[in-house]
Amino acid sequence: MRLGIIGLGMVGREVLLYMFQFSASQEIVVYDVNKERTQAEIWDLEDSIPLGHFNHYSHMRVADEYSDIKDCDYVFVNASIPAKNLTDRRALLAENEKLMKEIGEAVAKYSPNAIVIITSNPVDAMAYYFIKYSGMSPQRVIGSGDVLDTVRLRRYISSHFGVSALNVTSFVLGEHGNSSFIPWSIAQIAGVHVDTFSQMKGLPLIDKLKAKEFVRKRGLDIYNLRGFTDRGIGASVYTIFSAIAQNEQRIMPISALLQGQYGIDDLVIGALSVVGSNGIEKILEYPLTDDEIKLYHTSAEFIREAMK
Ligand code: 2OP
Repeated sequence: MRLGIIGLGMVGREVLLYMFQFSASQEIVVYDVNKERTQAEIWDLEDSIPLGHFNHYSHMRVADEYSDIKDCDYVFVNASIPAKNLTDRRALLAENEKLMKEIGEAVAKYSPNAIVIITSNPVDAMAYYFIKYSGMSPQRVIGSGDVLDTVRLRRYISSHFGVSALNVTSFVLGEHGNSSFIPWSIAQIAGVHVDTFSQMKGLPLIDKLKAKEFVRKRGLDIYNLRGFTDRGIGASVYTIFSAIAQNEQRIMPISALLQGQYGIDDLVIGALSVVGSNGIEKILEYPLTDDEIKLYHTSAEFIREAMK
């Protein structure tokens, strides 16, 4: 297996670490504008190899040109302009679109059969632009979407109820950003609706407004207090990658190109989809309430407005 990583900022570094430690890849080729630092990052990781913690490890090397990202099975796109104070991911849109054009064209040329996983923000629009400029199949271009927002929500619900987050099957949908929403009608704990679970456990209902604010703000808070987010997104990317590499057919709220689902057309947005060896195997249309569909449309407009 051959992997390409484009953009070795804080997120790219975390993706590289996961892939180096846990994937059965033979080669990882890393492209970043700063070649010297990229080489140093690789040297630093290589220092851990002789200690023998990993069963398998990949040969890593710096890409001099995009043409070195050749014949990859997977390409991870994390390139972004730097941002200081992040209050709305859409502020990065115009500059990062240029990067998606450059990278999309390069990947289509040198690794046309790859599955592409994108984290660059605003991720929904970036996945859309990548599909547009690369001409690659939307099934094989996956934005990290609301996978991270969803784990943040699951942790929030888990701590409210004092149960394992593994028992929480609730999702965040829509834009990975300030217009994301929580479809509470499908929010469950171990098979029952969260409100029913409150009664069962004798606890107050979860504050839905607070949960929404928490989910929307957590990423921005981490970003602005640390200057970046990397751990949560790195783990999310690895989860998406594993679902594909191991053909898990796992349902995840990734960024996918909607073509009429939920009444939304020709837009990439966070949507529950089955993820497996072909990438996005199927976008699922959940029976959401009318109010939730309205929130979906509002979120879609939020993305479209920025793309105009
Ligand atoms: C995150 O939510 C900033 O989009 C990034 O962690």
